[in-house]
This record gives sequence, C-alpha cells and structure tokens, in this order.
Amino acid sequence: MKLKLLATALTGALATAAPVQADFPPLGPLPPAPIPADNPMSPEKTELGKMLFWDSRLGGDASSPCQVCHEPGKGWGDGGEISRGYPGTQHWRNSQTILNSAYYNKIFWEGSVTSLEGQAPSAAEGNVAGNGDPSLMEMRMRFIPEYVARFKKVFGVDWPRMTHAYQAIAAFERTIVSDAKQVPFDRFSNGDKMALSENAQRGMALYNGKAGCVQCHNGPLASDQKFYALGVPENEVFKTEPLYQITHRWEHYQKGVFEKDYRSANLDLGLYYITKNPKDINKFRTPSLRELKYTAPFMHDGIFYTLDEVVDFYNNGGGEGPNKSPLIKPLGLSDAERKDLVAFLESLSMDKPLLMDPPKLPPYAVMK
Ligand code: HEC
Ligand code: HEC
Repeated sequence: MKLKLLATALTGALATAAPVQADFPPLGPLPPAPIPADNPMSPEKTELGKMLFWDSRLGGDASSPCQVCHEPGKGWGDGGEISRGYPGTQHWRNSQTILNSAYYNKIFWEGSVTSLEGQAPSAAEGNVAGNGDPSLMEMRMRFIPEYVARFKKVFGVDWPRMTHAYQAIAAFERTIVSDAKQVPFDRFSNGDKMALSENAQRGMALYNGKAGCVQCHNGPLASDQKFYALGVPENEVFKTEPLYQITHRWEHYQKGVFEKDYRSANLDLGLYYITKNPKDINKFRTPSLRELKYTAPFMHDGIFYTLDEVVDFYNNGGGEGPNKSPLIKPLGLSDAERKDLVAFLESLSMDKPLLMDPPKLPPYAVMK
C-alpha cells in the first residue's frame, strides 16, 4: 500500500519537486514507548507520578506544578504563544506538549536533555519554570505521610527523595501517549482504508512527495529528532516587553554565550547554546506532528496559531535567518493542495483530546 501511494505521489503532482519519500523512515503507528531499564513501569509508580505532576509543592512558592504549563485541556501545553513563567518572570519559549514526549531522546526545543528523568529536575528547579529548591521540595514531601508510604511502596525507601520523584513523574509521562485506535492515520495504516478521507490521502501523498515534509518529519513520531533552521519569525514580544527581554538575556547568561551575543540577545539561538558552533544558530529540534489538533500555537515561539498558517509558511519557502536549511524552499502548492495537506496533518491527531481528572492530593502532617 505504501509503495502504491508513493507511486501516486510520483505520477501525480510532482512536476515541480523531486520525489523524496524513498530515503526516509515512513510514518506509521507508534510502537510502545521505550522504558529505561533503571525505571521500570508499575501502576503504583505512574499514579504517584501523576500526583507529583499536579502537586504545586514541587516548586518554589507552591504555585507552579508541571500541570499549569502542561494542561490536559490545552493539549498538555499551556496554550500561549510563549509559556507563562514562574510568578514574577516570563518564560521565553512555547510550552511543548508532553504528549508522546516519551518517544524523544532529545528533549526541549534545542534537545538539551536526553531523558524524561533528566528533564524533570530542570522543570521543577529551573528558575523561570518551577523554581523549586530540591532540598526544600524533598523536605516537603517527607511531611506528607501518604507520600512517605507511597515512596516506600514504589521505591522501597524510608523517605521520599527527589530522584525518585523525578522517576515517578517520568513514568507518568510515559503513559501520556497517542492511542492508535483513536488516530485516523494509525487506523488507516493498520488496514482500515475508510479511516482517511480522500483529501487526507491526497495530503499524505503531498507530505511524502511534493511538499517534502517527510524529509524531516519522518518515522512513527513524525520527527527525525534532528535540528534545522527554518527562519521562523521571532515573536514581537521580545521587542516590546521587558519581562521577555530579561529572560532572554538571563538565558543567554545561563547558557554561557559569548559576551557580544549576550548583550544583543535578539534571537533565540537554539542548538547553538549546546554546541557553541555558529553553524547551529537558530536550529531547533524537529517536533512531532502528532496531536497538532490540540497543541496550537506552533513553533518554538508560538508564532503560528493554525495549520493553514504553518503550511503557508512552508509553501512560501520558510522565513529569513541564519543557517536556513536548503530543504526549505518554495513548494508551489495550490490552494486545494494546501487544504489536502492540512487534512492529512489533522489525521495524525486523536479523535478526541486526552483529558484527565486531577488527582486528589494528600495533606501535610506534623511530624511527631
Ligand atoms: C512555567 C511553565 C512550565 C512549568 C511549570 C513546567 N514546564 Fe515543562 N515546559 C515548559 C516550556 C516553556 C517548555 C519548552 C522549553 C524549552 O524547550 O526550552 C517545556 C518543555 C517540557 C518538556 C519537553 C517536551 C519535548 O517535546 O521535548 C517536558 C517533557 C516537560 N516540559 C515536562 C515538565 C514537567 C515534568 C514539569 C514539572 C516538573 C514541567 N514540565 C514544568 C514550561 C513549563
Ligand atoms: C528541514 C526540515 C523540515 C522540513 C522539510 C519540514 N519541517 Fe516542519 N519543522 C521542522 C523544525 C526544525 C520545526 C521547529 C522549528 C521552530 O520551532 O523554529 C518544525 C515545526 C513544524 C510544525 C510545528 C509543530 C509544533 O508542535 O510546534 C509543524 C506543524 C510543521 N513543522 C509541519 C511541517 C510540514 C507540513 C512540512 C511540509 C510542508 C514540514 N513541516 C517540513 C523541520 C522541518
């Protein structure tokens, strides 16, 4: 079936662009999320992780649990262009969905950490996110008898520890994944040929052919986890709002950029922060294209609200900026083709959003 589709793509609308699908891992239903050997799953652990994900006592002033920036009802992101920050600060990037983050081995827009266990501390302790001091957060958990009992049961320890809290949160996140039965494209791939509309099927051929999306958004996750510059426009708030400028400079300082870049702070340098190689300026990790129906706005700075805007951006050959990928060039898609492509992108989302009731959080108690 896949080969036949490719053939359609080739003989169909491909007059203006070379065929591209052949060299890339195809999209397809996601396999089970990988589980690290040192953090096996159990229902008790994911339940504890869910509580901690919602618990504001894992944070500085007990106002910013993970869930406030990763809300189930907002596609497990925060719904804003740039995420809210810890009270008194502004974050500087779009809050990514945690849906399917279990599948990445490069986490964050610049891929700076490699596991969910490694990500959770930077979220709970990072100054513009949770801003929690680990020793204080640990002490708080030790004053919550139900947590003491649960950590004992799950990890066999006498007292809650942050490393275990982060493992439990990571285990919970590994349960926040797309359900193939609910995703039209996955049902189609699994043999239900009625699951995709004709528009979406034409969109799939464009995705794998003329529009070239598969060159970077490939494999079951629709992400190659590599880094590219597309010339995504900078969000205007960085020119008009001091709180955003403060965080931008502070991040530059934290990430150890050279002084001249620190002082200008006019561009999110992306992968450069990790490598300090000028060739990596403005490059970001290819994000998954699953669940886009629920995760707007899009891009590292939330600059686009709709998939139509995103497709127009690519159709126009992307934006301006350093190190732009040669793969990003005008596509010559007609209005009908753009609609078809959007229909296909939408088919990569579940029929309904993954919602969840908040857990009941246990109270503190006086220690005798
Ligand atoms: C104040 C808002 C805020 C809070 C609180 C917060 N996050 Fe985030 N989260 C973000 C933003 C913004 C990003 C993207 C940051 C970046 O790439 O630099 C992000 C990224 C992530 C990612 C990466 C997803 C990907 O695709 O790579 C994961 C996983 C995540 N957060 C989990 C958590 C967990 C777990 C907590 C609680 C311990 C948490 N977050 C708390 C705003 C927040
Ligand atoms: C050269 C590699 C490359 C190609 C080709 C490419 N993309 Fe992307 N895509 C990326 C990167 C990198 C980002 C993140 C850019 C950023 O935030 O600055 C991205 C972001 C996106 C987003 C936003 C997702 C989110 O969660 O914010 C969408 C939607 C998207 N691409 C769709 C497409 C479509 C549709 C095509 C084909 C027309 C396409 N991409 C072609 C690399 C690519």
